[in-house]
Amino acid sequence: MNKYVVEGGKKLQGDVVISGSKNAALPILAATLLTEDEVILKNVPVLKDVETMISLLAKLGKRIQIEENKMIVRHDPKASLSSRHEATYDIVKQMRASIVVLGPLVAKYHKATVSLPGGCAFGPRPVDLHIRGLEQLGAKIAVHHGDIEAKTSGFKGKTIDLIGQFGSSVLATDNVAMAACLAKGETTIENAAREPETVDLVNFLIAMGAKIEGAGSSILKIRGVKKLHGCEYTIIQDRIEAGTFLVAAAVTGGKVRMKYATPEHLRFVFDLAREIGIGIEERGEWITIKGKKPSSYKGFSITTMPYPQFPTDLQSLFMVLGMLSSGISKISEGIYPNRWNHAPELVRMGADIRVENEMAIMTGVKSLEGASVQASDLRAGAALVVAALAAGGKTEVRRIYHVDRGYEALPEKLRALGANIQVARDSLL
Ligand code: EPU
Repeated sequence: MNKYVVEGGKKLQGDVVISGSKNAALPILAATLLTEDEVILKNVPVLKDVETMISLLAKLGKRIQIEENKMIVRHDPKASLSSRHEATYDIVKQMRASIVVLGPLVAKYHKATVSLPGGCAFGPRPVDLHIRGLEQLGAKIAVHHGDIEAKTSGFKGKTIDLIGQFGSSVLATDNVAMAACLAKGETTIENAAREPETVDLVNFLIAMGAKIEGAGSSILKIRGVKKLHGCEYTIIQDRIEAGTFLVAAAVTGGKVRMKYATPEHLRFVFDLAREIGIGIEERGEWITIKGKKPSSYKGFSITTMPYPQFPTDLQSLFMVLGMLSSGISKISEGIYPNRWNHAPELVRMGADIRVENEMAIMTGVKSLEGASVQASDLRAGAALVVAALAAGGKTEVRRIYHVDRGYEALPEKLRALGANIQVARDSLL
């Protein structure tokens, strides 16, 4: 197992190119199951979760070829029929997002077995909305021995409300939308996710011949077609990676130019960052982040909510900002009430954070100091790395396999901005 060793205190300076979006790439890769034609994808990020999805697709009868700037997904006629519709526990346990193959598999083969994902580091994360939505389209679903077993004699379009306890669900919307593409008649999804990643999936499905209206709104209308065809498609850039570099530049008082063409996907975050006192200049596809001394930033108060509001995936990063800004900052979790595992690790670095139920309260401190800390999930790990860049002295971040799941070449990109971050063997674990 590896760890990051970070010597903090250096202002980040220079240019960084934001990679393709992990959370758009995963459902889009799953959607290739809906056709037997060749699909060419560009801007797929090179990271562990994408590798896991590729392994899953290979088991489900796809052949994937990676060329310099594109990924070619083909149907493998030699793959065994029985394995084509089974997503087994060995893969699903590595990545919850594997659930997103359920809709395409049942739509294409009229049956599928997908292992039921367990809880995750920040809570139970149920899949009831995925199941409910597919049942309403006409699937019979049962859970046996930890597997979701689904079958249908053919999906029929319907009006389906996908509202959950915490609002809309990104992957449940994706699953049901993909299934509805091959259903008979029209499906209306109410309370659909509005996230840019779901919009990207819908645009990809449209490029494959699906008939869908309403992407980006909370109502999706999908007219079923008999067949989808191959296409070539470029995946959007990763707004969460862009937000991560924004905070890294801000807390180190640096100046970083990001090549990031879709600032509208981060509008809420950019507006908030400007209010806090971070300089942001948007010029074409380049965005310059101008940091200052973090103690000059104003404290803030936010709640994580579905898009277009503040994303839960940047909560841990903004916690680092709040730890160093002046006065008190408050973050409430409106999506995952228990997503706070990074807080005690950040406290080890000198932060003043109090977590009370779904709210974290940060009192700004003048500085952080290096410590030995460990990542508990992807975004928790990213926050520890960013805190380490701002801290005085050496920080060792352990369990960085969580970070590798969702960031492409993070240490390399940070080093190109002047950070002192090394990857070393971790003999402790
Ligand atoms: N929920 C239910 N029932 C369901 C599905 C979801 O109650 O059947 C709840 C969840 O427990 C949560 C809320 O609904 O409280 C929203 O979760 P959502 O379903 O939208 O999450 P997801 O689709 O499983 C995606 C991202 C997550 C991101 C969330 C929220 C992917 C692969 N994952 O997950 O990304 O946090 O949306 O925006 O797209 C990450 O990248 O670090 C990450 C965790």
